[in-house]
Amino acid sequence: MRLNEIFALIDKTKIFADIGCDHGQLCKMVYDSGKAERIIASDISEACLNKARALLKDNAEYYCGDGLQPLKDIVPDITVISGMGGNTILHILKGRLLPKLIISPHNDVYKVRENLTSEGYKITEDKVIFDSGKFYDIIKLVPGAQNLTELQKTFGVFFDRGDKVFLQRLALYKKKILSYKRTAENEIKLQRISEVEQCLKSKM
Ligand SMILES: C[S@@+](CC[C@H](N)C(=O)[O-])C[C@H]1O[C@@H](n2cnc3c(N)ncnc32)[C@H](O)[C@@H]1O
Repeated sequence: MRLNEIFALIDKTKIFADIGCDHGQLCKMVYDSGKAERIIASDISEACLNKARALLKDNAEYYCGDGLQPLKDIVPDITVISGMGGNTILHILKGRLLPKLIISPHNDVYKVRENLTSEGYKITEDKVIFDSGKFYDIIKLVPGAQNLTELQKTFGVFFDRGDKVFLQRLALYKKKILSYKRTAENEIKLQRISEVEQCLKSKM
């Protein structure tokens, strides 16, 4: 389900790369669909890369190492970096402006949105999905200029679409904050939630 959602955002392309490919399942989906002419499977762990090798055999190119480094001068048309922490994703992308990027950070999503949009990326899709009991953010980016509001950095660029899964996560988040001590920090969080609610109401 999570990988299906990422897969759906991958356009037909020449060079597709999955950085941190682990099992290689996403590469396999791209291969089976014929969406890419070249498939690059990369991972920092040789053991993980071997799982991808076993799955994809000669149908992909394999690179072992940290982030984009082992790819050297190859510039993928579409790069996916998913299933790792926000700081690791930012570390991998430091100083690199790729043509098309799909990321799914497990945490620090505010910081990821803030840093990448100030480093020359523009977010073209930003959605929340629910899979196996967890919420995941999936974000697509291209080079471009974009200034995000605090609400967009916190809740996603398109929070005002009021997607069903987004609303479910918002309701749970609100419940959680309300169950905590009313500190100044939590009051700010509640204020932001209320701004989102107002914004959504005004669109109804
Ligand atoms: C939890 S798995 C996610 C696998 C797949 N991308 C997904 O979304 O299902 C994280 C993978 O990222 C790899 N990884 C972590 N840090 C990395 C880095 N700096 N460069 C490349 N791969 C990395 C790990 O070895 C692991 O295989």
